[in-house]
This record gives sequence, C-alpha cells and structure tokens, in this order.
Amino acid sequence: MKTLLITGGCGFIGSNFIHYALAKYRQYRVVNLDKLTYAGNPANLIGLVDDDRYRFVEGDICDPATVGPLVAEADIVVNFAAESHVDRSIMGGAEFVQTNFNGTYTLLDSAVKHGVERFHQISTDEVYGSIDEGAWTEEWPLAPRNPYSSTKASAELLVRAYHITHGLPVVTTRASNNIGPFQYPEKRVPLYITNAIDDLPLPVYGDGSQVRDHLYVEDHCSAIDLVLHQGEIGEIYNVGGENDATGLEVAKVILKRLGKDESLLKFVTDRSGHDQRYALDSSKVQALGWQPASDFRVAMERTVDWYVENESWWREIKERQDYKDYYQRNYGNR
Ligand code: NAD
Ligand code: TYD
Repeated sequence: MKTLLITGGCGFIGSNFIHYALAKYRQYRVVNLDKLTYAGNPANLIGLVDDDRYRFVEGDICDPATVGPLVAEADIVVNFAAESHVDRSIMGGAEFVQTNFNGTYTLLDSAVKHGVERFHQISTDEVYGSIDEGAWTEEWPLAPRNPYSSTKASAELLVRAYHITHGLPVVTTRASNNIGPFQYPEKRVPLYITNAIDDLPLPVYGDGSQVRDHLYVEDHCSAIDLVLHQGEIGEIYNVGGENDATGLEVAKVILKRLGKDESLLKFVTDRSGHDQRYALDSSKVQALGWQPASDFRVAMERTVDWYVENESWWREIKERQDYKDYYQRNYGNR
C-alpha cells in the first residue's frame, strides 16, 4: 500500500486525478486535504464515499499543524491546492499569495521534516507569460504577467530551492488550459457551455483573438501519473494538448455543439494584462511516452456533453449567492 497525499482534491483537476489514481492502482490509498473554498466541491468525489482507500480531511495547506501529520503518513505528495482563477486574482491577490506561495512552503517544509518519496508540484503554462509565436520549452525564463501566474511561478521557485538546498525529491508539471468534468463554471469553457444552455450571453474578452492550448483533464491525469512515477527528480515537464484555439473559435465550437445561435456572443471589456497566447513544447514529457488521447474536437465534445448530462452538478453551483455575487462583480461593469 502506498499513501498519496493529494491537496486540493475537491477541485477540478485534483478530483479527476483522485478518480484516475484509485481506478488505476488498487494498492494506493489517497488522503485528500482540501479547505473547501468556493471552488472545492465534495460532490466531485461522491462516488468514492464507500471506498476505504479514500479519506477526506477538511483543512488548509497553510496550517502546519494540519499538514504535518498528513505528510508524515504519506509516501507521495501531489500539490494541486491553489487559488486558480486569473480574474479573481486581478480583483484581489491576498489569498493567492497565501495559498499558492505560503501553502506550498508549508507543504515543502513538512515534506523535508518527515521525508517523502516524491513531491509533485502541479503548475501551469501561465508561469511563462505570453508568447507571440513558437512554443515554450522548460528552459524558457519565468515571466508571469498576472497575480495568479506570479504566485504559481513563485511557488515553483520554492519547490526548486527545496530540491537544491534540502535534496527534496521534487518534480513539477506545467500544464495548459484543462477542460472536462467538474470544472467550476467561472472558467471560460464551463461558463460558456452553461450560459449557452440557458440562452445567456457568452462574454468574450476583447476581440476573442487570444490563443489557448486545451488539454482534456484525463490526459493531464495520465501525464501527472507518468511524471510522478517515471519523471526525473528535480525536473520540470510541460504538458500541452496541442489543441490551439482562439477565444472566438472556442465559443463557436460550443455554440455549434449545443445547436445555439452565434447571437449569444457578447464582446466585453478585455481582461487587464490579458495574455495573448500560450503554447507549450511538450516533447520532454512525450519522450517519457506520454501522448494526449483527445484532440480539440473530441475534448470539446466530451466536455460539452458532460455538462449537458450533469446539469444538476453545475446548476447547484450557479444558484449559490457567492457565485451570483462573483458574476456580478466580474461581468456587471463590462
Ligand atoms: P480549482 O480552483 O478547481 O481547485 C482548487 C482546489 O484547491 C479547491 O478544491 C479548493 O478548495 C482547494 N484549496 C484552495 N485553497 C486551499 C488551501 N489553502 N488549502 C487546501 N485546499 C485549498 O483548481 P484546478 O483548476 O483544479 O487547478 C488545480 C491545480 O492545477 C492548481 O494548482 C492550478 O494552478 C493548476 N493548473 C490548473 C489548470 C487549469 O486549466 N485549471 C491548468 C494548469 C495548472
Ligand atoms: P480562463 O478560463 O479564465 O483561463 P486562463 O485565463 O487561465 O487561460 O480564460 C481562458 C481564456 O478565455 C482567456 O483568454 C480569457 C478568456 N475569457 C473570456 O474571453 N471570457 C470569460 O468570461 C472568461 C472567464 C475568460
């Protein structure tokens, strides 16, 4: 039996990874430490309540008293926990610094004290900033441009320092924009799908020309699994889906899949400091044997269909007062 401490496991990618890992490895136990912020949803793991290999602990990765005993019983730590939404980080960065930086520090410090086989930091392509042409390799300098990405880059530097200074066996993955089941509907793709179902406008920031790479969340999970087990200690791996699309293309694909009219598109004031283009060179993780299974069309169709089939999951979130308040704050004046 191996014990994985997964932080942020009630969020989008963490919950997908817990399902993935427990389905693939009969001999793994998962302890999920999650603070249950607005983005944490225990319903994402409802299918595991009867699995005695799964345990949920409600708590904060910034709290050493909570983190210490959990790291002590873990063989492996995978740190998904984060404040993850760029627009919220523009409205206020304090929680981003606290969780993304201080929380990572608390986990690293505890991992050194107790010793772990691996510490896997889940990071993002956004740490590189924005690139007009070509694609980033892992050697590219960190040049984040918004509060979210700068706290993720800062966390990476701590991870690097703990490896070099204390010999902590770390690996880091930098993934592109994930899509798929259980993504909180403030992120573009689930927001557009659920708005379109309700015939509400799809807010397109600026002119919709910004390019993002799209990675189906299951492909991200398979890459994390591979790097966790076969990645070289101290190394960083880009994980991109090779599924580039502009904002406008994404919106139109979603409308088409749902049979909705393009009159739902609504061009609104651009995001401040909006990164124009992200693009990853993923040849390093591909050399380990990883390939994404879903191309753009398949990834988008599977994602749209999941939200159509799981309406109660997202409707419960969108009916919450805190969601409505956020929506008003972000879109009210646009
Ligand atoms: P999410 O916002 O859906 O989930 C974050 C989870 O972390 C939530 O369950 C939340 O309750 C929990 N959390 C927040 N603060 C915490 C704290 N202090 N202590 C314990 N738990 C806390 O995020 P996500 O989209 O699943 O992203 C997961 C990770 O992947 C993040 O580190 C993010 O930076 C990274 N990432 C995301 C994407 C993407 O497209 N979503 C792409 C690349 C990398
Ligand atoms: P988002 O899902 O917030 O991810 P990130 O900013 O981390 O890439 O946004 C993806 C893209 O969609 C980004 O270019 C901003 C754009 N966007 C919109 O045009 N409208 C929206 O309502 C949102 C949330 C994002």
